Amino acid sequence: MTKRWAVALTALTVVAATAGCAKEGSGADNSATDGHVVHVVCGATEDWCAATTKKFTERTGVKADFVRLSSGEALARIKAGKSNAEFDVWYGGPADGYAAAGDEGLLEPYVSANASVIPAKYKDPQGVWTGVYVGALGFCSNTKLLAKKGLEAPDAWADLLDPKLSKDIGIAHPSTSGTSYTALWTQVQLAGGDETKALEYMRKLHPNVLQYTKSGAAPAQMVARGEVAVGVIFSHDCVATMEAGFPDLKVSFPAEGTGYETGGVALVKGAKNPVSAKKFIDWALTTEAQEIGPTVKAYQFPTNPDAKVSDKVVDLSSIKMVEYDAAAAGEAKSALNKRFDAEVAQAPKS
Ligand code: G6P
Repeated sequence: MTKRWAVALTALTVVAATAGCAKEGSGADNSATDGHVVHVVCGATEDWCAATTKKFTERTGVKADFVRLSSGEALARIKAGKSNAEFDVWYGGPADGYAAAGDEGLLEPYVSANASVIPAKYKDPQGVWTGVYVGALGFCSNTKLLAKKGLEAPDAWADLLDPKLSKDIGIAHPSTSGTSYTALWTQVQLAGGDETKALEYMRKLHPNVLQYTKSGAAPAQMVARGEVAVGVIFSHDCVATMEAGFPDLKVSFPAEGTGYETGGVALVKGAKNPVSAKKFIDWALTTEAQEIGPTVKAYQFPTNPDAKVSDKVVDLSSIKMVEYDAAAAGEAKSALNKRFDAEVAQAPKS
């Protein structure tokens, strides 16, 4: 064999071995094949996902792309890629989705050194997910529409059951949306853990729901355009819509107590670019990354205590919150959503 052939053969063997390794995507250490790129499945708003991936590339030189998917959809896509991972990182969206993915062995625990500053209540002790923001669930009202009905902005879950609000409420479907699952799990907490009672509330609410949207923030647009009078959404999504030119909207919170999300970040098991993925996670926990939100009208509370907090972020201590254990909510998620599908309403078709 000539020297040139020997070199070519060796190169081919390396390529074949590398391709085999990347294809496997079995959770093995793929660091040798890291492509200096990170593929992100992103559950925050499109604008935030875009601004964050762009800044990450500027800061580190590592390329980044994203697909924006609601929580349930992201979980399904990660699951579909279990033996051939499509994504390296899951970023944004409530932590209960991450906990559910962790239970199914779809995430690779990773404790970033930067996670040490994040308060324990905002991260998984095993490093399955780490919190990057916190948001409170609330009501977003079109005050003009409500005034026509002689109603004030609701300040209790019970207010949403008023027959005057028939087909006048927008909320997402919990199978697809983390926002809506937060609302459902909030009902479970308010009912002392009784899932049947929680579903009973959702069934009573059903005649007042015009449409179950796929994404959690979508009802904000419905409220803004006057399609419905009230949306059950994360309060910061209402603030963003007000700022986008709909000043007649109003945020209120239920007196019984409301739920909240810890938006997560996690390493996907079998990620093809684990080195870049870890870099992304490390960076997502920095003050720089967590101060991007307000520049794109995303007013969640940052989990890094040193990050500046915009004055448009709601003061979480001023709201009555229910106990929200992401691990318990995540464990219950699949079965509870199945019951919602069967007992309240089917998930929206794509
Ligand atoms: C919006 C909010 C985020 C939240 C996300 C959940 O983007 O700004 O705080 O995490 O919705 O999305 P989903 O569509 O799953 O309800």
